[in-house]
Amino acid sequence: MSQGIPEDIIDEIRQGTDLVGLVGEYLKLEKRGKNMVGLCPFHNEKTPSFSVSPDKQLYHCFGCGASGNAFSLIMQMENLTFPEAARALAARAGVRIPERRPSSGEDNLKERIYNLNELAARYFVHHLKTDAGKKALDYLLKRGIKQETIELFRIGYAPAEWTGFFNFAQKKGAQPDLMVKGGLVSPGREKGYYDRFRDRVIFPIFNISGKVAGFGGRILAEGEKSGPKYLNSPETPVFEKGNMLYGLNLAREEMRRQKKAIVMEGYTDVITAYQAGFRNCVASLGTALTAEQGRLLRHQADTVVTAYDSDSAGETATWRGLAILQSSGCLVQVADLPKDSDPDTYIRKKGAEHFKKLIDHASPLMEYRLQQLKKRFDLVTDKGRIDYIEELMPFLLAAVNQVEQDFYLRRAAEELGIDEDALRSELKKRRSRSSRHREREQKEPAQEPQQIKIRPEEKILISLMLQSKEIAEQGRNLLQLEYIEDPRVKKVVEAIWDLAATEMVFSAEKMLNRFEDRQIVNLITESATDPALQDLQGQTAKRMVEDCTARLKQVWAKKQQRVLQKKIKELEALGHNEEIEKLLREHQQLITNKDGGPYRLGKGGDFNG
Ligand code: UTP
Ligand code: MN
Repeated sequence: MSQGIPEDIIDEIRQGTDLVGLVGEYLKLEKRGKNMVGLCPFHNEKTPSFSVSPDKQLYHCFGCGASGNAFSLIMQMENLTFPEAARALAARAGVRIPERRPSSGEDNLKERIYNLNELAARYFVHHLKTDAGKKALDYLLKRGIKQETIELFRIGYAPAEWTGFFNFAQKKGAQPDLMVKGGLVSPGREKGYYDRFRDRVIFPIFNISGKVAGFGGRILAEGEKSGPKYLNSPETPVFEKGNMLYGLNLAREEMRRQKKAIVMEGYTDVITAYQAGFRNCVASLGTALTAEQGRLLRHQADTVVTAYDSDSAGETATWRGLAILQSSGCLVQVADLPKDSDPDTYIRKKGAEHFKKLIDHASPLMEYRLQQLKKRFDLVTDKGRIDYIEELMPFLLAAVNQVEQDFYLRRAAEELGIDEDALRSELKKRRSRSSRHREREQKEPAQEPQQIKIRPEEKILISLMLQSKEIAEQGRNLLQLEYIEDPRVKKVVEAIWDLAATEMVFSAEKMLNRFEDRQIVNLITESATDPALQDLQGQTAKRMVEDCTARLKQVWAKKQQRVLQKKIKELEALGHNEEIEKLLREHQQLITNKDGGPYRLGKGGDFNG
């Protein structure tokens, strides 16, 4: 499961890594008893239920059930494969990993796409320095982006060629299929492939740890008829717009220091702001904020200031994004940019000082909403006031707490010149309506995935089988799928057996790619990383497998016995003697088989049943 990294090195990494310190790089932890607790990075919450045990070097979330060790933590946090996670931890711990020979066929798709993206980023950076790229470089410099900033953000240029990158990457050994999967080329209508990015300034988009996940390409001259202003990478296994924030890799540290994040709309906003000394800025890639992005921000900062272009500040999608941000537990403030400016143009025109004032004087979300409403409706007319109240109500209902709600309700009443209590009773009516609505929603088919029902023996077996092909095969010979009750546990066991039978290289990490069910993924990571069973090899492991299967079989046989007994009773009542005889024989067999060879239902040896 270490994928080419020797077991003893993995051990060394494990010993050199302190989970508490590692978790502390992602979220704030506080001591509680023997453990440390914080806000879970894997689900939205306002009170901490994520607990880290310094003794056991394990984490567990009582809210969402996520659990694991240092390896699974950074695998999940940074979307890494096991070997990548091991490398990242090795670097932190100062452990040297002996180089293995490249491309032994075991690299998974994500890793290959990251590598290809890196190749592409270098290709684009190179072309910014060529004659063909000079116009792009001039464009950037004219926009006030300095040479060192260009280098830091690794801005590049895609030449105006149809197969420039394709040919280059092919010469470097990349397969066309991978280039398509990575979103860098498209198959031609008739034949061949062509580059996705042509004659554009290229902004690589980094993941939280600074790997190139995708690209945004800007046309050089606006008004040109050559597609959208910005062309981005399509969604790929490593690039999902909804959970990326442009600039997060660079802004993370400063966000944590200030406990404040600034969210903007565009790549260039972030770049200009960074250059002007605002190092806690990210951009949301041109779409409304998602819950995942909210969570990412919440784990870096308490306060999030949005600095959007003024025209999009009023849009419904923007409001929705801000509401999502607020429900992630962030304190949301809105910076009021003047009409027709975005942070980039504002900073260039007015300077960093003025921009800082805008950020410092940002209004709380609710305050900002009231201001907007007041601007939009004519409160002198009845219609204006009714419309105002109509739009105000949902805002008030979404207030973070009672105090905030009350505060703004009073303000609004003042604004309208009406009695506070009238407004309050109106709010009450709506609240009961919306809570009834919520109740109904909750009765819909359960959204929360069912907890996996797993016996301790099953868990040990899975942990052991995930360690090596040999153990997996031993398990396959002893265990019957019928012994397992939960269909999802069955699936995992089947997948392990399948992996052992079909894959050259056996790894838990590969297993993870087969499942999207979060609970299954958790079960696998947790089992694969169970420190108590890690590296248990040879006789000890073998005996444990035997014991666990025997125990599961016992439990299963008992249950079967009960079923048979019940049937026999029913048949007795009806006087069906012949069948009773048959069942009694079966019953006897169950008992005598208790400790013998595996008892098989149906055809012997068929474990795929
Ligand atoms: P803007 O149009 O506000 O871009 O879109 P900008 O950053 O101000 O661009 P400049 O200053 O003209 O160069 C904001 C963001 O929306 C996405 C991009 O992520 C962009 O940074 N966008 C915009 C697209 O994805 N496609 C588009 O065609 C336009
Ligand atoms: Mn702009």
